[in-house]
Amino acid sequence: MKIAICPGSFDPVTLGHMDIIRRASKLFDRVIVVVMTNATKHPLFTQVERLELLNRAIQEENLSGVVVDCYDGLLADYAKRCKADVIVKGLRAVTDFEYEFQMALTNSKLNPTAETVFLTTSAENMYLSSSLVKQVAHYGGDISAFVPPCILPDIIEKYRKDEQK
Ligand code: PNS
Repeated sequence: MKIAICPGSFDPVTLGHMDIIRRASKLFDRVIVVVMTNATKHPLFTQVERLELLNRAIQEENLSGVVVDCYDGLLADYAKRCKADVIVKGLRAVTDFEYEFQMALTNSKLNPTAETVFLTTSAENMYLSSSLVKQVAHYGGDISAFVPPCILPDIIEKYRKDEQK
């Protein structure tokens, strides 16, 4: 049985993430989508909120063999804990490559048993990122083409609450 992990900060989950998760679920027996901390980012949603939104989006698609989890620590350690064979990452453009390459090499030093596999993003999601979604939402723009419909109200509500502060 091949176990894969799809790690990310998912702040919030986008249609680009969902595309990678869906495709990974066709390649591996079990896919663990894990909400982690990216030390270089200040998340809009708490870890619990990100997990909840991700869980809802995944349940809505009814993807078999896909589970959601969260972990505060090193990805390499999490991969060891759940005996993952593969770490799946999505690659959008050349701009992602250097950073992802560096992470893949570091992770393989820390945990040589987990192989990093890159899935190229689908053409329609090339430009998509959580940061872009947040920028558009911040200025009241329409983000319905970027995120799963079931989490749309939560993002709008988050910015509405922020405005009231
Ligand atoms: O969606 P992101 O923000 O690109 O995901 C990056 C993430 C969370 C996967 C990465 O920052 C990570 O692996 N964080 C966990 C801590 C860790 O292992 N850092 C060293 C990576 S070499």
